Amino acid sequence: MDAKGLGKFFDSAWNAYRDLLVFDLMHHRDLFGILVGQVQRRFQHPVSFLDLACGDSDPARMVLGKVPVREYVGVDLAAGPLELARANLQPFGIPAEFFAQDFLEFLGETKREFDLILISYSIHHLGTFKKKEVFRLAKEKLSPQGIFVIIDGMRLAGQGRDAWLVQCFQYMEKRSEGKIPATFQVVKKHMGEADFPEEGVGYEAMGREAGFKESRLIHHDPASTFGVYLAGNGRDL
Ligand SMILES: C[S@@+](CC[C@H](N)C(=O)[O-])C[C@H]1O[C@@H](n2cnc3c(N)ncnc32)[C@H](O)[C@@H]1O
Repeated sequence: MDAKGLGKFFDSAWNAYRDLLVFDLMHHRDLFGILVGQVQRRFQHPVSFLDLACGDSDPARMVLGKVPVREYVGVDLAAGPLELARANLQPFGIPAEFFAQDFLEFLGETKREFDLILISYSIHHLGTFKKKEVFRLAKEKLSPQGIFVIIDGMRLAGQGRDAWLVQCFQYMEKRSEGKIPATFQVVKKHMGEADFPEEGVGYEAMGREAGFKESRLIHHDPASTFGVYLAGNGRDL
């Protein structure tokens, strides 16, 4: 599915996607907690935060509520969620900008540098070549101490895509305790059509190839397959 198709899909299926967050089926809370810990350890100043594929920026609130952020930029192709994002961030009183754009295009065009570049639950939509392009561009657009973070489902070492699809889907469905069966029909179809995660160790290799000094999986849960990958050029913390 191309980027525009994904934007349209998430625009129309946002309520179903929200169910996954309401029931925390993809572990947003824990994984964003890990991200917050990394930002707190690494930065002594308020950070500039680029949120690629931000959706409605609801997950970003877990960062904004915990660490000083001096500016927030959200990029997403789904117009409806992006409108919600404005309202979601307004109470923080932080300078915030939103771009209804393909995040690869945005990364290629922007002349700005960011301390934190995050892509959560979206890089898996891209093929390997474009994923590498995200790494290359993210490296260019990071500040000297900046970090590039992926939060997402990731294949386990040696696991094929079909086995990952079954494991990840069944994990979330079980965690939902049968409360949202209609949502899972939408989710199953979408995952089959549009989800192509790399192995977690594959992201580490992509980071090294892009020239990052630090490139590592800081968390990868073998039961859910969700993980946190971090790349940077500064100190290894
Ligand atoms: C699964 S949601 C993730 C939303 C949010 N980051 C989170 O953590 O819950 C995927 C988002 O990626 C967006 N998206 C997918 N491909 C995109 C692209 N190439 N450029 C911009 N947005 C994209 C979709 O519109 C959707 O909002």
